[in-house]
Amino acid sequence: MFIDSHCHLFYEDYQNDLADVLARANDAGVEYFIVPATNHETARQALELAEKYHGIFVAVGFHPLDLKEYTPERLKLIEEMSRHPKVVAIGEIGIDYFYDRSPREVQQEIFSLQIELAVRRDLPVIVHTRDSVQEAIDIVVRHAQNNPGWKKEGKRGVFHCFTGDARQANVLFENRFLVSFPGPVTFKKGEMPDVVKEIGLENIMVETDSPYLTPVPHRGKRNEPSYIPIIAQKIAELLNVPIDEVARTTTANAIALFGLQRDARTLSP
Ligand code: NI
Repeated sequence: MFIDSHCHLFYEDYQNDLADVLARANDAGVEYFIVPATNHETARQALELAEKYHGIFVAVGFHPLDLKEYTPERLKLIEEMSRHPKVVAIGEIGIDYFYDRSPREVQQEIFSLQIELAVRRDLPVIVHTRDSVQEAIDIVVRHAQNNPGWKKEGKRGVFHCFTGDARQANVLFENRFLVSFPGPVTFKKGEMPDVVKEIGLENIMVETDSPYLTPVPHRGKRNEPSYIPIIAQKIAELLNVPIDEVARTTTANAIALFGLQRDARTLSP
């Protein structure tokens, strides 16, 4: 069994065939889907999907590329939404210095406010970075050290589509964060495969980041969660372990991070 730890299934790309997309994913062994919202409106859309489909769980928050939607009142709305039984994280939050759509100080400030929300609600965070891995690590580590009671027993979050190096990954692991890898791990160019080899399986998850970042050989087409085994197979090859071991470890990591067993029991299919 696999879990797609990051897929944006509320986008228009899926509005005509989401049931088929989920059925194909189930056939491929992908049973649970973590759907990170990008603002208060997509959070509402994601929760509608979670109420309709038993396998879907949600993260709520303001994405760093969507901060034009942010207001303090809407953050209060996000906090209320975070009490929904299918909300398992605060996300997708972070900082993005590639597109730089909002001033960097503003991005850092709203990122911090949302980590404080996660600490208050004792939820994990799903973190987005682009050209900003080290800055984002500094911010989460500061919050983790100031709040030792945050997720006292478990992991505090994940850096999704991790683009840092092995040294940076190890700083995250020491502070009880995971990292996750999507389709680019299958690309010939780029450093992601080498980083996977260096850090190993113990603290990672798999994700598609659907509809973006489609893995080889489907590159250029819409991405979907049924491609998770392609990513897991590539990681298995890089680490020279059976794909079953990748499935077992990444699924256990996602279940523990997002507390899925508790929620799956609470909610009827
Ligand atoms: Ni995303």
